[in-house]
Amino acid sequence: MLKPSVVKELKTIVGADNLSTSPEDLVVYSYDATQQEALPWAVARPGTAEEVSRILRLANEELFPVVPRGAGTGMSGGSVPVRGGVVLSFERMNKILEIDEENLIAVVEPGVVTGFLQQEVEARGLFYPPDPASHQFCTMGGNVAECAGGLRAVKYGVTKDYVLGLEVVLPTGEIIRTGARTAKSVAGYDLTKLIVGSEGTLGVATKIIVRLLPLPESVRTLSAFFGSAEEAAAAASRIMAGRILPRALEFIDRAALRAVEGYLKEDISGGAEAMLLVEVDGSAEATGRDIGAIEALVIKAGAARVIRAETGAERERIWKARRSISPALYAIKPKKMNEDIVVPRSRIAEILREIGAIAGRHGLLIVNFGHAGDGNIHTNIMHDEGEAAKVEEAVKEIFAAVLRLGGSISGEHGIGLSKAAYLPMEVGQAALDAMKRIKQALDPKGILNPGKIFLNAE
Ligand code: MLT
Ligand code: ZN
Repeated sequence: MLKPSVVKELKTIVGADNLSTSPEDLVVYSYDATQQEALPWAVARPGTAEEVSRILRLANEELFPVVPRGAGTGMSGGSVPVRGGVVLSFERMNKILEIDEENLIAVVEPGVVTGFLQQEVEARGLFYPPDPASHQFCTMGGNVAECAGGLRAVKYGVTKDYVLGLEVVLPTGEIIRTGARTAKSVAGYDLTKLIVGSEGTLGVATKIIVRLLPLPESVRTLSAFFGSAEEAAAAASRIMAGRILPRALEFIDRAALRAVEGYLKEDISGGAEAMLLVEVDGSAEATGRDIGAIEALVIKAGAARVIRAETGAERERIWKARRSISPALYAIKPKKMNEDIVVPRSRIAEILREIGAIAGRHGLLIVNFGHAGDGNIHTNIMHDEGEAAKVEEAVKEIFAAVLRLGGSISGEHGIGLSKAAYLPMEVGQAALDAMKRIKQALDPKGILNPGKIFLNAE
């Protein structure tokens, strides 16, 4: 609980209107997309980096946790205030500060919705490629904290590949600038890369400089339908080996198709067992050629049917379906454990087989969809209340299989609370200790987002 004097001081820093302690407000800021929840003691909505800095300095004096939060769309509990404290919510810091068309960069505040930035730069013939499925709601600050990936990572990479520099408030309150506005900079350690993906445990980004690309001239999209998940997975691996790099290559299994079709009340797949969604971009000539080559390849790989999206509306329809899978799955069961395992691209069919066997052994329905082009599959263990122990066993077995195949337990959602217990399985004790020492050096009092990544180890 916060002392009344601390609440008063917080109100002085952000303004009384920007500090909430009412139970209704606290509930709204208590959870993310994982269904994990914990009530904060207060919610502060800072308007500047200086305000963030003052809050963190106060936290170091008064010893309360501070938990930064974007739009709460996170998939690993990264913004859930598991130890209480003050949630820092960035809805007031939501401005695009600059779009520099000459130097191909944009500077944004952390509360900018990613889809809004995409739209604004596209109106100028520019392109911000990172494209999380939640782009209409998630914010740039959250994307930076988690190093969000998304639907176009297969060709364009993830958030860290676009962040050139940051303004960061350190856990102890100092405001620093990392990186540069230039295409290159090797001045000192790469603190930008350290902060991006540090899940809000090492610093709070208050300004983000991202690089932009020219908007591709043409985009072509196709859906391919298969008689089995394995066939679709094998076709995805063949596309990746086929010397044409699509900008999106998504896999959706039967259960995910049925769930999203029910959710949107639309027939997307004509009853198929699995689907690939493939998109290419480039010049009109190149995309025409590439989509034709991919169509021929998927047919050879066993696709029973292929549909090309010929209009913008058709593309929108199919992408809306893909982006809606996550919420649609709740129609199957009240609870899901959503993992984001990643394996070498050539081993997708293998991991799907292993997951199928694990599901069978535990009597669980496991739904798979995601970024096949990255080898990054969202493995959703659907379950009821009271099945947690069984789910945990299945998760451990899935992670063990992923690591055996040379993969990673998290491709894009982060460790947060959900995977903290499993991180040592992948990185080992020495690497974990090195991470803890970095955290300890930057945050000696363990103020910023405690309980995340290292769970009980700060
Ligand atoms: C997605 O690709 O749809 C997101 O990462 C969300 C999810 O895994 O459910
Ligand atoms: Zn994803």
